[in-house]
Amino acid sequence: MNSPLSSPLTVPQLIVMKKEGRKIAAMTAYDATFARAMDEAGMDVILVGDSLGMVVQGQKSTLPVTQTDMVYHTQCVARGVTHALLMADMPFLTFQGPAARALECAGALMQAGAHMVKVEGAGVLTENVAYLCARGIPVCGHIGLTPQSVNTLGGYKVQGRGSQGAQLTAYAQELAEAGASALLLEAVPAPLAADISQSIAIPTIGIGAGASCDGQVLVMHDALGLGGRRPRFVRDFLSGRGSISEAFHGYVQAVRDGGFPMPEESYSG
Ligand code: KIV
Repeated sequence: MNSPLSSPLTVPQLIVMKKEGRKIAAMTAYDATFARAMDEAGMDVILVGDSLGMVVQGQKSTLPVTQTDMVYHTQCVARGVTHALLMADMPFLTFQGPAARALECAGALMQAGAHMVKVEGAGVLTENVAYLCARGIPVCGHIGLTPQSVNTLGGYKVQGRGSQGAQLTAYAQELAEAGASALLLEAVPAPLAADISQSIAIPTIGIGAGASCDGQVLVMHDALGLGGRRPRFVRDFLSGRGSISEAFHGYVQAVRDGGFPMPEESYSG
C-alpha cells in the first residue's frame, strides 16, 4: 500500500495530513531491508533514531551515538525508502552547541538522504531550530522525555505531569514559531499531548503520548516484540501475525484507524 499522498511524502504534506485529520504512521529503521518493508507497508515517516545506540549497538543510552553512525545508518535506510518521508536524529552534542556546527551536522544528514532532522529539546536550543529552518533544513522538535538528557532527568520517566505541563506547552509553541515542521512528544500524559496537539498547527507525533497526537511512532524492535522490559505504550505487532511485513501493515492500519494506542497504552494526567 502506498502512502496516501504523493511519493515521497513531503514536509508540507505532513501538515496537510494534520489539517485533514489523517493520522501519521511512523517507525524507526536503521537499515535498508527493514526500511523497505516499512515503506512497502505504507509507513508515512521512517525515523533513523539515535535509539540505534541501544537497539543496534547495545549501548546503555543514546549518548555514545556519533554523527558518523547517524550518517551511515541514514544512508542505509535511504536506499530502502521510496514513499516515506525520511527523518534522521541529530545525535548528542551535534545540536546543543554553536549554530554553525548544528548546520554542518544537519546538512550532512540531509546529504545522506534525510528529508528532515529531529532535535531534542527547546528553550535555549530553540534558537538553533530557527537557524536550521531559515537555512532550508526542515526540523522536527522533540520534547517530553528527551533520552539525550537522561542524566538530567534521572531516568526514562513520564514528563509534563502537574505544573511541568505548562512548560511543555510553551516549548511546543516556541518550536512551532521558530519554524519546526513537526513535533515529537515522548512519554507525556495523554490529556497534555491532546492540548498541545490542538494548540499548534504543525503535526505532533507521539510515543507514549496518547491517541490524540496527529501521528504515532514506535521503535521498530519494540513493535516487533523484541527486547526485555516493555513500557506500557509499546504493543507487539508481530504477535498473532505471520511475518514482519504483516506486523508493519498491522501497525500502519492501527495508527490510521485509531486502534493504536488504546487508553491503557497511554499515561493519564
Ligand atoms: O531515537 C528514537 O528512536 C526516538 C524515539 C522517540 C522514536 O527518538
